[in-house]
Amino acid sequence: MEFNIKSGSPEKQRVACVIVGVYESRKLSFAADLLDRTANGFISDVLRRGDMEGKLGTTLLLHSLPHSLCDRVLLVGLGKEREFRAKEYREAIRASIKALTLTSANEAVSYLTELNIKKHDVEWMIEQAAVVTLDTLYRFDQFKTQGKEPAKEPRKLTLAVPRRSDLADGEKGLVRGLAIGHGMSFAKDLGNLPGNVCTPRYLADQAKSMAESLGAEVNIFDEAAIAELKMESFLSVAKGSDEPPRFIELKYFGAKDKNEKPIVLVGKGITFDSGGISLKPGEGMDEMKYDMCGAATVLGSFRAAVEMKLPLNLIALVPACENMPNGRANKPGDIVTTLSGQTIEILNTDAEGRLVLCDALTYAERFNPTTVIDVATLTGACIIALGHIATGLYANQDSLARELSAAGEEVGDRAWHMPLWDEYQEQLKSPFADMQNIGGRPGGSITAACFLSRFSKAYDWAHLDIAGTAWKSGKDKGATGRPVPMLVQFLQDRADIALGNVVRRGRPRREVSELADDDAD
Ligand code: BES
Ligand code: MN
Ligand code: ZN
Repeated sequence: MEFNIKSGSPEKQRVACVIVGVYESRKLSFAADLLDRTANGFISDVLRRGDMEGKLGTTLLLHSLPHSLCDRVLLVGLGKEREFRAKEYREAIRASIKALTLTSANEAVSYLTELNIKKHDVEWMIEQAAVVTLDTLYRFDQFKTQGKEPAKEPRKLTLAVPRRSDLADGEKGLVRGLAIGHGMSFAKDLGNLPGNVCTPRYLADQAKSMAESLGAEVNIFDEAAIAELKMESFLSVAKGSDEPPRFIELKYFGAKDKNEKPIVLVGKGITFDSGGISLKPGEGMDEMKYDMCGAATVLGSFRAAVEMKLPLNLIALVPACENMPNGRANKPGDIVTTLSGQTIEILNTDAEGRLVLCDALTYAERFNPTTVIDVATLTGACIIALGHIATGLYANQDSLARELSAAGEEVGDRAWHMPLWDEYQEQLKSPFADMQNIGGRPGGSITAACFLSRFSKAYDWAHLDIAGTAWKSGKDKGATGRPVPMLVQFLQDRADIALGNVVRRGRPRREVSELADDDAD
């Protein structure tokens, strides 16, 4: 779909569909009111008949509005005006796009982006509209040969901004929104692909072509190269499968100074997690194809950051392999030596994510990073703790945890800061090695994070447990693309800080010149 930004009155749009909002108790938004006036109160009349209340997420399609130039008007319920905030805005955009795809309009102009939300400016309104639109239109049906619903997405969507002077900000928001949306679709595709297609080799190929097409550097390590790196822990998981592992390394130098310390993202890339010798029960095991969603998030966020040309240096690392139970597989009781030199007693081969991540975290030290963030579908316990709403967030610096939570809040992709206290480390004590790979059932997500913290002492580090947020089960089964929005917002904030800008939050943003002399904007 083609996106556009425009300023102009709704009644003057010669287009297949104009989208405007209606608050609860039939209060018209500014744009709806303009249309209503030209139509001599036609919209208010329709509403008075009671077909629409304005409840959030409801829609009503009107045809041939008197004196108007458009073919259709789509009314979108916004809920109570004083409760209309970011979350409600996203829901209204989603409902409008769903309703739009049910019409045969192939062009639409949406005025929802002109609504007012406290603390959010035009750039944010457009960015979020683009992200939610792409998210709503996403489909994954490449394996269906029958019963495929024909794609009915409009050819062109124009997003309105209030004033001509807002056009530039609108365009900026659109670029950001499309980059985030594409990053999410990329992550969703990788997540949704079955394990027999999305193997470690496939993941590496996709990462390679994505990075090369954006002009970023790529290194793919095969099994022999990984062995040479001395990642014995990672390899111990990989060797239980006939499918060979890959270690993926992407580099993007967007900062003015190529030697500026980078941010490193590390993604768990288990393309299928059977549990290994500690085999998982059969029910729902298919969902373990999603065990590479950390990798997908990292690759999707990398893609978005590079597409946005963020002025920072960024590295993406993905240890990718299958966790399978063949004759060479890890056995409970096995002891491996990690790249860091620390030894691990493997008591449960199903706690494999930490075994591949620990070596990648040690490897990250060579980049002398400012910050390392790993992303992993690490523990079922995280789902028990936080459900499917919040990502589990751990950090060895509270300030980093605050940055990430704030970034997630800004874009409606939330994380919850969990404790990483020393007392929990006790549960990882092993009688035979430096540590064991499980800490028992109590605080399972926390002890997994504690395990990783032992390999990330050299830098500021955060860990995102996305077991509950990376995909949905049930009838809407599928990858969500989370937490690409949070990570990209975090990177954008870091880029803003590097430029000397005020972090774009609690907007409208204060201009740099109000605070500093060097206006870098
Ligand atoms: N990939 C799983 C975690 C997972 C489970 C994610 C269910 C989403 C849904 C991970 O490798 C795993 O198996 N973790 C074990 C750890 C346990 C053995 C300490 C778990 O959570 O059961
Ligand atoms: Mn597992
Ligand atoms: Zn796993």
